[in-house]
Amino acid sequence: MADVTIESILQENRSFKPDAAFVETAQINSLAAYEELYSKAQADPQTFWAELATQELDWFQHWDQVLDWQPPFAKWFVNGKINISYNCLDRHLTTWRKNKAALIWEGEPGDSRTLTYAQLYREVCQFANVLKQLGVKKGDLVGVYMPMIPEAAIAMLACARIGAAHSVVFGGFSAEALRDRLIDAQAKLVITADGGWRKDAIVPLKEQVDKALANQAVPSVENVLVVKRTQQDIAMEPGRDHWWHELQKTASADCPAEPMDSEDMLFVLYTSGSTGKPKGVVHTTGGYNLYTHVTTKWVFDLQDTDVYWCTADVGWITGHSYIVYGPLSNGATTLMYEGAPRASNPGCFWDVIEKYGVTIFYTAPTAIRAFIKMGEHLPKARNLSSLRLLGTVGEPINPEAWMWYYRVIGGDRCPIVDTWWQTETGGHMITSLPGAIPMKPGSATRPFPGILADIVDLEGNPVPANQGGYLVVRHPWPGMMRTVYGDAERFRRTYWEHIPPKDGQYLYFAGDGARKDEDGYFWVMGRVDDVISVSGHRLGTMEIESALVSHPAVAEAAVVGKPDALKGEEIVAFITLDSEAKASETLAKELKQHVVSEIGALARPGEIRFSDALPKTRSGKIMRRLLRSLASGEEVSGDTSTLEDRSVLDKLRQGN
Ligand code: WT7
Repeated sequence: MADVTIESILQENRSFKPDAAFVETAQINSLAAYEELYSKAQADPQTFWAELATQELDWFQHWDQVLDWQPPFAKWFVNGKINISYNCLDRHLTTWRKNKAALIWEGEPGDSRTLTYAQLYREVCQFANVLKQLGVKKGDLVGVYMPMIPEAAIAMLACARIGAAHSVVFGGFSAEALRDRLIDAQAKLVITADGGWRKDAIVPLKEQVDKALANQAVPSVENVLVVKRTQQDIAMEPGRDHWWHELQKTASADCPAEPMDSEDMLFVLYTSGSTGKPKGVVHTTGGYNLYTHVTTKWVFDLQDTDVYWCTADVGWITGHSYIVYGPLSNGATTLMYEGAPRASNPGCFWDVIEKYGVTIFYTAPTAIRAFIKMGEHLPKARNLSSLRLLGTVGEPINPEAWMWYYRVIGGDRCPIVDTWWQTETGGHMITSLPGAIPMKPGSATRPFPGILADIVDLEGNPVPANQGGYLVVRHPWPGMMRTVYGDAERFRRTYWEHIPPKDGQYLYFAGDGARKDEDGYFWVMGRVDDVISVSGHRLGTMEIESALVSHPAVAEAAVVGKPDALKGEEIVAFITLDSEAKASETLAKELKQHVVSEIGALARPGEIRFSDALPKTRSGKIMRRLLRSLASGEEVSGDTSTLEDRSVLDKLRQGN
C-alpha cells in the first residue's frame, strides 16, 4: 500500500432509533426509504437531481443539460435561468404562506421583530432598488459586514435579486481581515451597521469598516450603507456613507428578480487558509439553490408548523445555507438571534426556545460543550418541550457531548442530525435523515442521497471497513464550490490533486480523515493536517480528545503532536477543566491513565497541559496549528487573525 493511512482506535457501540412519534410524521420515515433514494441517486445522479430541480424550484427557463463536468470544473443546469431570491420570496406570495412568518428575530437586548413573507419581500425589493440607485449592477460584488439582524438577510437576498454577488465577512473579524477580503473580492459597496450587540457589548462595525477603507486601501469601494442598530455615534463620510433607513424609506418596492444564469456567481465566502491569503469559495446560483433547498427539507424534516433556529452567524456558510437560503426557499419560519450566551444571561438560548416554541435547534459541538460546562440547571429551568429535532455541525461531536445534548436538551425524544459538510460543499453531505437513519453518537452516519462519499488511501483505493483513510466524494453534486475566486489553479491544487484521479475518476478531497464502519456509517476523525504520528501509528485527534472529554473533570481537550526522537511524535494534550475540577499532578496522571483504559497505551499523552481556554477560531474550531507550535516550544507563526481571543495564546505561553 502506498500509504500508512489513519488508525482508528476508539469504539463507540451505542445506537439510537428515532422516536416513534417522530417517525410517524417524518417525510423520509424508514431506513428502506433512505436506501431506496440513495440507490436511485447513485444509479443515475443526473436524473435524480433534475427531477428534484423540476419539482422543488421555480425556473424562468429550463436547462439544456443537467451537468457539464470538465473535471474539476462542474456546471449544473446549463443555460437554466433562475433567481434564488425569487425562490425564497416571490413564489410564496401566491400561496397561503404570504402572511406566514418568514423571519423571527430576537435582539440581544430583548427587542424583537417578525417579518412575514410579504413583509420580507417588500424590504428586499426596496433595498434592491437602493443598491441599484447606488450603481450596483449585475455581476458586481458587494461586501456585507453586519451584526445578526434582519437587514443581513435582506442585504443578501437583495444582492441575489439584482444579480450582484455578495461576500459576507463575519462581523467578528478585524479591520485587517475585512480589508484583505474586500480587496480580494474587489467589492464595490459595503453594507454594515453602526454596531451590533454581542455579549452585552457593542461591536463597533462601522469603525472597523472605516479602518479597513482608510487611505483608499480598497479603491474599488464606492459607497458604504449603514444600518442604525445601536444608535451610538459614528463617523459618516459625506458622499461615501449613507444611512440604510433614509434610502430605504423612499425606494420603490417594485423590483422584479433578475433572471440569472444557473452558473452565475451567487456569492464568495472566504475561509481562512492556513497560509494567510484568504481563500474565496465561489458558489453559483441554480445548483446551490437546489442543494440547500433539498438538504434543508429532508435533513431537518421541515414541516410547515416548524419554528426553525440555527444559531450560526450569517458570516459562515451555515448562516448562508441554513439560516437564509435553504429555509426561505422552503417557505419555512427561520429564527435569527443576535446575541450569544453571556454573563448577564447564560441561559438565553433556552429562553429563546421557550419564548418562540422552537421546534428545530441546530448548533455546534463547541457550543454544546460550553452548555455542559455552564450546567444543566439552566436548560432544566426552561420549558423545552416544543423541540422535536436537534442538529450539530462544525466538528466531530464527542459521544459524551452527544449524549448530554440528547438527554438534557432533547429530553431523550428528539433525534439528532450530526451534519458533516464544509464551506466548500455548500450543504450537508453526510448526515442522518432523522426519521430514517438510526443514530450512533459521534458518527455523522450516512451520505445524503446523491453524495457518493467513500474512504480511500492516498492512491485513491477504497480501504476496508473500520480502517481510517481519506474522506472523498466521487461524483459532483449541485451545491459544490465551483472555484477559488480568481484562482482556479488553487482550487485544483487544494481539492483535486492531493489524491490523484483514479481510473479517470476525479475525487474531491477537502482534508478530513475518517473511517466507515461495518454498517456504512462514517466517523470523521479530524483534519488530516492534524494527524499525530506515534511510533508509526497515525492517529486522528478526535478519538483521543473524545476519550479525554469522557472524563468527568474535563470540559474540553485538544491534542497535538510534539517531535520526539524515539517515537516520531509524542502526544501533548491541552485540557480545559470543568468548573468544579482542580488542576494537579495527580489529575494529569489520572487523565493519561484514562486514555490508556479508554483506547490503549498507544494513545497515552506524554504531557498534559491545563489551560483556562483553548485557542479557537471565531467559528469555534480549535486551532491545533498554534498548539503544535506551543507544544514544541516554537514561536507561533502564520496567520492568527482568525483567532477569537488573542490573549489565550499569551496565557498558554505562560502556562496557565
Ligand atoms: C470542516 C469544515 C460546515 C459548516 C461549518 C463548518 C469539520 C464540520 C462536521 C461534523 C465532523 C465536521 C470538518 C470539515 N466538520 N461538520 N458534523 N463532524 N467534522 O464549515 O469551516 O468549512 O469547516 O469542519 O473537518 O472539513 P467549515
